[in-house]
Amino acid sequence: MAPAWPYAAGKRHLGHVVGFAVPADIFARYQRLKGNDVLMVSGTDEHGTPVMVTADRESVSPHEIAERYNKLIREDLRDLGISYDCFTRTTTQNHARVTTDFFRTLYEHGCLIEKTTLGAFSASTGNTLPDRYIEGTCPICGYTEARGDQCDNCGNQLDPTDLINPRSIIDGSTPEFRETKHLFLDLPQFADRLRPWIESKTSWRANVRNFSLSLVGNLKPRAMTRDIDWGIPVPVEGYPPETKRIYVWFDAVIGYLSAAVEWARNRGDAEAWREWWQNPDSAHAYFMGKDNIVFHTVIWPSMLLGYGEGGELGAGKGELHLPDDVVASEFLTMEGKQLSTSRAVAIYVRDVLERYDPDPVRYFLTAAGPETQDSDFSWAEFLRRNNDELLANWGNLVNRTLTNAYRNFSEVPTPGELTEEDRQTLAAIESGFGVVGRSIAESKFKQALAEAMRLSSLGNQYVDHQAPWAVIKEDRERAATILYVALRVVDSLKVLFTPFLPFSSQKLHELLGYEGWLAGPLEFREIEEDDGEKHTILTGDYSTWVGRWEPSELRAGQRLREPEPLFRKLDPEIVEEELTRLTSA
Ligand code: MF3
Ligand code: ZN
Repeated sequence: MAPAWPYAAGKRHLGHVVGFAVPADIFARYQRLKGNDVLMVSGTDEHGTPVMVTADRESVSPHEIAERYNKLIREDLRDLGISYDCFTRTTTQNHARVTTDFFRTLYEHGCLIEKTTLGAFSASTGNTLPDRYIEGTCPICGYTEARGDQCDNCGNQLDPTDLINPRSIIDGSTPEFRETKHLFLDLPQFADRLRPWIESKTSWRANVRNFSLSLVGNLKPRAMTRDIDWGIPVPVEGYPPETKRIYVWFDAVIGYLSAAVEWARNRGDAEAWREWWQNPDSAHAYFMGKDNIVFHTVIWPSMLLGYGEGGELGAGKGELHLPDDVVASEFLTMEGKQLSTSRAVAIYVRDVLERYDPDPVRYFLTAAGPETQDSDFSWAEFLRRNNDELLANWGNLVNRTLTNAYRNFSEVPTPGELTEEDRQTLAAIESGFGVVGRSIAESKFKQALAEAMRLSSLGNQYVDHQAPWAVIKEDRERAATILYVALRVVDSLKVLFTPFLPFSSQKLHELLGYEGWLAGPLEFREIEEDDGEKHTILTGDYSTWVGRWEPSELRAGQRLREPEPLFRKLDPEIVEEELTRLTSA
């Protein structure tokens, strides 16, 4: 499980976490509940120009920016409940070691070749002007705010020299281009292996597969070093760290491997990463926004192929595993329709989680997220989805079932004989384990959640139709049976909702009288490396989860706890409040 690494260059907004974090977590939680071994690794991406741009803007060091945003982002991810086994960072000693070995090995294998190119320099200061510091018009789609490395509108990779009307983002001056040497990843030598590999991935989302195939048809060598002084030093002579560093994307994708190496070392079994990386039977799924596709389907696979059985780290113990699934979502706009599009509007994870619970946010991002086409987050829709769907459907089923059962029996009542409708209802809910599970395994999260919600509606219909609150007045035994069935329905749905709504499912688990962690919790752990430096990872002991992807076997006689609502009803006034906050920010 490999969610993309967020840049530690600023606060992350909903458009970020909707791509890499929430889908990956749904997938990981489902696999764990199914009883599969999962290793989910990632971290903050702290090198390169994104961090430098922020540091320049705020007149502090890149190191300070990386520290600040690593902390903030890992708190965001913990509070959203993204269940990483090891969420680390790219500024660790371990990551530098693995990256250095990788770079050196590719160089020795002839995959990195030296070329002289035109580099951009600031006309006003004479300093080098990294790709991200340059903006201009995309030569492919005409978007006027394309960056020197990539166009966010059409997703194509660019060189600063490709841009029409290039300008420095610092002072707007036109950059000068001068000769400079770099080491290029020789992508064309991998084309013959990449093409059939991508063609064989018929279960990939169409956006990922088609885009990747089009890239493979036109591969050029790509520079993997930069004229900057922030990043991992280049382990090749003639590339002094004062002026040249490894390109941020080269080291970031290696993070998937280095974080597994760190995870193994942290648990005192330094070789354990090999079971994931050199084991052909493991399955690697990557999650990201669409602007990351090329790095995961072309560049990283080429690097893995070029590394082969590797240098120091691989040690001839097997080739490194290529991606099995690459799941990319489209873009999320925020209040795109209401507010002027000329100004980017960002709704930050931190701000949202300060005022709202994580599950309604996860619900929105899954039910209305950009899974296969761009979508929009608006506060009005967030309110509607929370009140009219999550709360009115699932929350209501839980609430009335628990309240009735608790008030009349204070425990799970003993059922009499089940009627045909009772049995059919239970069977319908049980079928959800297959249907919802298969959809999640195929990364069709929207469809999976819709099915769980459909089953919740079914539960509501059952309760409406059986009306246990009326039956109890005449026939206590039949009411006991109805509530027993309804509680089993709720208990099963609790599991089906866990990958999407882990916090409320945990709460429900406790209200139903169970003990232990259904699927949680997350924690920070401080790690000290050989060099004495410390960093904090986000992790958790998920092996203690008591949840199982199986229908409820709720026992009669289990004590219920006093019910509380799972979700809060949101006041329509929040929409105006939030919009005011946005426009005045
Ligand atoms: N930091 C990149 C972004 O936010 C993603 C890096 S993913 C990795 O777009 F694979 F390179 F780690
Ligand atoms: Zn473009």
